[in-house]
Amino acid sequence: MQKKKPSVCIIGLGYVGLPLAVQSALKGYQVYGLDNDSEKIKKINSGKSPIQEEFLEINLPKVNIHATTNAKVIRQCDVSIVCVPTPVDEKKIPDLSPVRGAVESIIKNFRKGQLVIIESTINPGVCEEVVEPLFAAAGYKVNTDYYLAHCPERINPGDSKWNVTNINRVVGASDKKGLQMAADFYENIVDGQIMQMSSIREAEAVKIVENSFRDINIAFVNELAKSFDKLGIDVVEVIKGAATKPFSFMAHWPSCGVGGHCIPVDPYYLIERAKLSGFDHEFMKIARKVNLSMPDYTIELLQDTLNEIKMPLNGTTVGVLGLSYKANVSDLRESPVKELLKLLKKNKAKALVFDPFVLEKSTVKSLSELFKKSDAILLATDHNEFKKIKPNDLKKYGVKVVIDGKNCLDKAAIKKAGLVYKGIGR
Ligand SMILES: NC(=O)c1ccc[n+]([C@@H]2O[C@H](COP(=O)([O-])OP(=O)(O)OC[C@H]3O[C@@H](n4cnc5c(N)ncnc54)[C@H](O)[C@@H]3O)[C@@H](O)[C@H]2O)c1
Repeated sequence: MQKKKPSVCIIGLGYVGLPLAVQSALKGYQVYGLDNDSEKIKKINSGKSPIQEEFLEINLPKVNIHATTNAKVIRQCDVSIVCVPTPVDEKKIPDLSPVRGAVESIIKNFRKGQLVIIESTINPGVCEEVVEPLFAAAGYKVNTDYYLAHCPERINPGDSKWNVTNINRVVGASDKKGLQMAADFYENIVDGQIMQMSSIREAEAVKIVENSFRDINIAFVNELAKSFDKLGIDVVEVIKGAATKPFSFMAHWPSCGVGGHCIPVDPYYLIERAKLSGFDHEFMKIARKVNLSMPDYTIELLQDTLNEIKMPLNGTTVGVLGLSYKANVSDLRESPVKELLKLLKKNKAKALVFDPFVLEKSTVKSLSELFKKSDAILLATDHNEFKKIKPNDLKKYGVKVVIDGKNCLDKAAIKKAGLVYKGIGR
């Protein structure tokens, strides 16, 4: 017998919520989308994706999503899914106010028996310590009046292989019935495996562990890059060598900084929550410290490299390639380029910047204009267009120094063309 397809309301239509809304609609669900941003709502309702993402650009025009700023739609749905941001403040303290705001919208438009799923990245304890008490204060009892589940999102924007349709998921819930309801929902929409966790806290911990694992491993190779710069060893060669071992090694790569809404943010959610329980995550804190130091290190590298050819950083025109935090996307959240530009300004260098995905914030119109006007270039984002740069183009326009903040250019070819090349640990 065919399973009954409930109606869902996705709260927060960003990088996570919008693909989920589209995928749910493609699988035949009645989908409502709720967001605070009325411009975004207008765009979505006209079938245009507010995010440059192939899956959305192809599928959003094909489906019928009722997107709105009116939270009353929650009342019509069997399932509400929270996909709002979970940032940190200037002091790196987790800010759960968007999650609280979304939960309050659900409470104000309460529908008995509803399954509430949190997809936003949260530390262990948020469902039981923050979400449940909000419902309880309004007189609603978990597992009686509503069911609560957590299914952390793993989407990787810009990834052509893994997307909302095929990534394995884990799900935890407040009781067995809620767990089955949530697992049924994800089994209906995702082709990947759905692992049922024994508790909601363990499901919450999964996502923080995944992203902290990346942060820690990146910090390790960033530290190696700094050490190997002193030892005269190419860290990229070493990592490639180590990666030939068929087990127990996973390659991570050093760079001018870690960005995005996840890796440089999520570890703080566990660090701060563990502190409340009397545990100090020393290792995770050191990893954050190392990764936060990389923009400074990159600018020191630029300064030392310029000094080798008797040029000061002060007054030199530096062309920065890229603004977004990772390749081939326009997402600027927590991008290390912001810090790099701040440091260039502090050192009185003249910074120009070009990003083909963020033209409105670029200070020149093309790569050739950037090369023409720059003494040194600093590659900060490994967009495909940048990886194709030919050393002779740089030479032709008079660029003297190349700082490869993503180690993605041909070191030997650039050196052969007579330019000074420096990568991160390379
Ligand atoms: N971006 C990623 O690659 C990624 C991957 C996995 C998990 N996550 C997690 O998913 C969550 C969402 O991230 P995102 O990248 O989609 O964020 P986003 O900023 O792209 O989208 C969030 C949306 O929520 C809306 N919003 C905020 N508060 C709201 C409220 N109270 N009611 C209605 N709408 C509200 C915003 O207007 C925005 O459109 C975060 O917890 C993040 O850590 C993100």
